[in-house]
Amino acid sequence: MSQATFEEMSASDFFYRNRDIAGLSNPSRSIFVAIREAVENSLDAAESQKIPPNIYVRLSFESEATKETQVYKLRVEDNGCGIPSRFIPSAFGQVLYGSKYKLKQARGTFGLGGKMAVLYGQITTHQPVTVTSSTGQEKIYIFKLMIDIQRNKPIILDRKVLINKDNWRGTIIEFTLEGDYLRAMPKIIEYFKQTAMVNPYANLTFVDPKGRLYKFTRATTTMPDPPKETMPHPYGVDVELLQRLIQITEFMNMSTFLRGHFHRVGEITAQKFLEFAGIPANKNPKKLTHEEIVRLMQNLKKYKDFLPPDASCLSPLGEELLKAGVTKELNPEYLVVHQRKPSTYAGHPFIVEMAMAYGGGVPKRSNFVIYRYANKIPLLYDEASDVAYRVIANVNWKRYKVHPDMPVAIVVHICSTKVPYKTVGKEFISDRPEVRREEANAIREVARQLQHFLARQEHVHNEKKRLGIFSKYLPKIAEFSTTLAKETKQPDIEKLLKSVQKYGTEES
Ligand SMILES: Nc1ncnc2c1ncn2[C@@H]1O[C@H](COP(=O)(O)OP(=O)(O)OP(=O)(O)O)[C@@H](O)[C@H]1O
Ligand SMILES: [Mg+2]
Repeated sequence: MSQATFEEMSASDFFYRNRDIAGLSNPSRSIFVAIREAVENSLDAAESQKIPPNIYVRLSFESEATKETQVYKLRVEDNGCGIPSRFIPSAFGQVLYGSKYKLKQARGTFGLGGKMAVLYGQITTHQPVTVTSSTGQEKIYIFKLMIDIQRNKPIILDRKVLINKDNWRGTIIEFTLEGDYLRAMPKIIEYFKQTAMVNPYANLTFVDPKGRLYKFTRATTTMPDPPKETMPHPYGVDVELLQRLIQITEFMNMSTFLRGHFHRVGEITAQKFLEFAGIPANKNPKKLTHEEIVRLMQNLKKYKDFLPPDASCLSPLGEELLKAGVTKELNPEYLVVHQRKPSTYAGHPFIVEMAMAYGGGVPKRSNFVIYRYANKIPLLYDEASDVAYRVIANVNWKRYKVHPDMPVAIVVHICSTKVPYKTVGKEFISDRPEVRREEANAIREVARQLQHFLARQEHVHNEKKRLGIFSKYLPKIAEFSTTLAKETKQPDIEKLLKSVQKYGTEES
């Protein structure tokens, strides 16, 4: 019998071998994912500073690769915060490395997306990525990098420093990759359109390999407030997190430890909780045994009186901006938006925003058009696996007098410090009961308002019809009755018409 051999695998090697997990499964999807990851990083970089983003994306043809695929060069330029030079190599050359592991809302979560795109470019074209960046200080840094896949480390092939005469701030990444643009094109254009819808303060420009220009211009410069970093909420902790906090803490007693490391724990809450858990307030956290830590975790979850997390770590779009975005991209006849109050799942705060658009530029299909977003990222694949899809399917639409073949678009946006994605490819939201409940309540609210609008519209339509009949026959009746009565002067029909009119002229 042969002996099993054991070996270790680096994070980049793992993702290199399993790139489907991140959505890089075929030449058309890969090109879409590469653009999407780069654009998301650029949006995060601009939004973190509350700068209205200007993002310029160019995909240009380089050479034929195989029968179906070509080599393209992707260049993405932004006016975001830039990256300090010492972090550039790892930010683009080390898988699972990033600045977004903090507890606040961001598009990026895993420290993976940008690198997966670069890694994909590297394994399909064997060329390095060029990163140019400045934080607006006196220098601009240009790195040429490759990823050492086995060691999960960046290889710096070249490094240049330029004087930043114009105080430019931002990042430009450029790399080559193999793909099938023609197939990917509809999804890519749709991606930009949908991104523009929930980022109405962004200027997005895309130049495709045929030289076609797609421009999505901002409708406003108002931006949501950037999220604040928060501490873990007691309901979301596990033993590992408690152990880590105990290791690093400088607090010498349980009361200050709880107040210093957890969200929503003040002096009185800490005191009440410690009484509930039977832990002396002056106990040194570093003296807790493993069993006591496990019990502490269980009690933190059991205690009912912690306030829910506040939402300052979130940055929802808000009703006004959502309205501006949907109007800009769909120009509907009627639009209703609704933002739910903050809610939580497993200690993570989240907010659901919903819009329902009717008529005008809303496409008419055999079913509603659903636009799904998470932390302002459009989710374009695997719609049927998303919780929103099921929520919408479960609504009794007849009750709202809304039919799936009407020109109706539904926009669902969930923002959270931890969006419950099912995969690292960020394509759909898992079916958490709390999320489902919030989405169901939101959809009921917007559906109710659309129902009112439709009912009113029907009323006005019927009224118009009724008045149409009156105005057709009244003159004749007036004429006949005048002759019959042997009068010479006909009665004033306008007066009569006004008296049967139920609505003012501006409404009919
Ligand atoms: N255009 C950019 N401007 C500023 N910083 C950037 C830019 N692109 C990437 N970065 C930095 O590089 C890090 C790694 O990016 P990457 O896309 O690999 O991971 P992420 O965005 O943190 O998470 P995710 O895997 O969810 O995308 C980011 O956390 C960010 O700090
Ligand atoms: Mg990213």
